[in-house]
Amino acid sequence: RMDEEDLHARIRAAKESLGDRLVILGHFYQRDEVVRHADFVGDSFQLANAALTRPDAEHIVFCGVHFMAETADILARPDQHVILPNLAAGCSMADMADEDSVESAWEQLTEIYGTEPDASGRQPVIPVTYMNSSAALKAFCGRHGGIVCTSSNASTVLEWAFERGQRVLFFPDQHLGRNTAKAMGIELDAMPMVNPRKPLLGQTEQVLRDAEVLLWPGFCSVHKRFTVAQIEAARAQHPGVKVVVHPECPMPVVDAADAAGSTDFIRKFVAASEPGDVIAIGTEINMVNRLAAEYPDRTIFCLDPVVCPCSTMYRIHPGYLAWVLDGIVEGEVRNEIVVDAEVATHAKVALERMLAALP
Ligand code: 13P
Ligand code: SF4
Repeated sequence: RMDEEDLHARIRAAKESLGDRLVILGHFYQRDEVVRHADFVGDSFQLANAALTRPDAEHIVFCGVHFMAETADILARPDQHVILPNLAAGCSMADMADEDSVESAWEQLTEIYGTEPDASGRQPVIPVTYMNSSAALKAFCGRHGGIVCTSSNASTVLEWAFERGQRVLFFPDQHLGRNTAKAMGIELDAMPMVNPRKPLLGQTEQVLRDAEVLLWPGFCSVHKRFTVAQIEAARAQHPGVKVVVHPECPMPVVDAADAAGSTDFIRKFVAASEPGDVIAIGTEINMVNRLAAEYPDRTIFCLDPVVCPCSTMYRIHPGYLAWVLDGIVEGEVRNEIVVDAEVATHAKVALERMLAALP
């Protein structure tokens, strides 16, 4: 305990001495001991924007995962330093789409669909990457007329893509892609899954001709754990329970829930509830527990009875936060995330298309 209090004191002292030169961003999935030091807590879209709203901060310490820090670095000014307290904080879903596999799938799709736009000027395929992907894949989208989306704007982004393309290649999260496309009225038959190495594998020509959204087989290991049976059990035990889940959950789970949306959507859903309400949530446990603590007059619990943390988000420990902050105070930038300039230029194009597509 003493050691822990010492860490928090070090973090507070560093923050005080750095003042406006520092901003600490924290994702909703971060543990409480980290969140308490964040200047801004949000979903991945809000945190990308937050990086833009503090041009005075020389140091942006990102308490989240690697792709989020990369995005902040792409959007930040070149003289701002983006720091990830633990470089091992990745995202297993983002790792499920690597550049080579996407390039090879793209080449094969180009063989199938050609490169000529149709009569209304729509390209054969528009690539759409979920924010949860490497900077290299955002750059891929930038170079090929594509765009980035987050869980808070996926349907707006898909609409943008369908104005410009006959179909979409969506990666890495099959579930967000399927859930969003389904909500837009696209038939399941028109959403074949591509094989990363061989898109044609297992698909007939007819399927590929009719395809509207080509899904990549990635998934989130936290959200794929949620099941319809858990929702049924919650409804049986708590008649009137409201169920809200993240769209990275499998489609049957999203269909069985009352609502689905980004982490900030979930927060707002809880904020809009009434005292006495019972709310079951399908997302990461640190966020669920924090909401439960914030609204003690409601019954708020995680759908998964077994603790459901994101193990990589959890790798940001206050010890690492203290260590990088001490570094800044001593004039040493530790764990800086620097995206290659060429990659960043193209990735920024895809990110800016997302920002411009939003109302
Ligand atoms: P949000 O965009 O909803 O914050 O989600 C990020 C994430 O990693 C969910 O698993
Ligand atoms: Fe990645 Fe899933 Fe963790 Fe989000 S919750 S950072 S998608 S592994």
